[in-house]
Order: sequence, then C-alpha cells, then structure tokens
Amino acid sequence: MTVATASSFTYRHVPATDASRPPLLLLHGTGGDENDLIPLGQMIAPGAAIVSPRGKVLENGMPRFFRRLAEGVFDEADVIRRANDLGDFIAEARERHGLAAPVAVGFSNGANIAAALLLLRPEALAGAVLIRAMTPLADAPKPDLAGKPILMLTGAMDPIIPEANAAELARRFETSGANVEHEVLPAGHSLTQADIRLARDWLGKLRA
Ligand code: MLT
Repeated sequence: MTVATASSFTYRHVPATDASRPPLLLLHGTGGDENDLIPLGQMIAPGAAIVSPRGKVLENGMPRFFRRLAEGVFDEADVIRRANDLGDFIAEARERHGLAAPVAVGFSNGANIAAALLLLRPEALAGAVLIRAMTPLADAPKPDLAGKPILMLTGAMDPIIPEANAAELARRFETSGANVEHEVLPAGHSLTQADIRLARDWLGKLRA
C-alpha cells in the first residue's frame, strides 16, 4: 500500500492480488479522503488493484472533487476543469503502476465527478459504479460510451438528489451507448447494505 502524489493528487494505491479483476478508482464523498472508501473497495472487489485519490477542492476544510455554489448547484466550469485534471491523473497513475483502465466507484460528490469523467473523458474509465449521482453538467458533448458498463444506485428518499435528475443522467448514458443498470433503492443519501451487495454482484460479473 503506498501513499503518493501524481498530478498533485494525494492518493493511495493498493496493488492487485487478483489479476482477473479490473482496477478500481475510488472517489470519496464531501469531507472524505483517500482512505475512506478502501474498505468498501476491498469488500466489493476483493483482490482488485485500488487507486484512491483525495479531492483537491476544500469546502470549509472538507475535501471534494469540484466546487459547488450550493448543495446540488455546481460550478460547472470547475467541474470541467477538475474532471480533466482527474483524467490526467488516471493516465499518470496507470502508467506509474502498470494498470488497465479502472472502473470508478464513486459516492456522492465522488459519483458526480465520475459522471463528469464519463461525459468528458470517457476513455479514462472502463466502467463505473455511481452511488447517489446526479447530473453534473447541464450541457455536455455527447460522449461515445458504446458498451461501457455503468451501475447507478439511487436513493428513492435522497434529500439531495431528485429521482428525476438521476434518471436523466442514466438516460444520457444510455443514449450515448452505455450498458446502464439503474437501481432505485428504498434509501436516502447514505450508503446502505443493499448498495454494497448490488455493487459487489455487479463488479463480480465484470471479471475477465
Ligand atoms: C455534490 O456536491 O457533489 C453533491 O451535492 C453531493 C454532495 O457532495 O453532497
């Protein structure tokens, strides 16, 4: 397990012990850091290589992956800049650690930057598990997501993300050719056991 800096991201890397699994790119929620999701990653994809960066934007001292103007209202120019920065980081980390394109596992703000990556830099990711994601950009060029596997896990009682907004994001991915599975769970914004089970089963099917 290493803690290192590339593209000025602080991140952790855990080498793979199971080469049949694609690497995971773990993207934490607001106030998290590079350590937060490692236990989750190891639970849902045992043996997968892990790359887990810390968001570089601070909101009242809490790390995030892009600036927001209010809860659910994003600084879209910053979303674009930060998604590209993260895309560059992924390329560097892959080169440094000899990794295939990763599957992102993002929670909340981390799911939103993963969604922005899929829209803006689709080649950066082999797929994504988006837990409590919303549409990160009002307008984005239509990416080529042909066959890209995406699991979206939405909370029916999420006070931050209207269900219609998450459905719109799923529709955008689908019309770009992605292979989308979108589950709406009887949950709020927080992670639940059902998220863990669904993510684990879905990732199990992605094995080489
Ligand atoms: C965001 O800012 O990405 C969303 O509001 C989710 C959050 O981080 O609370």
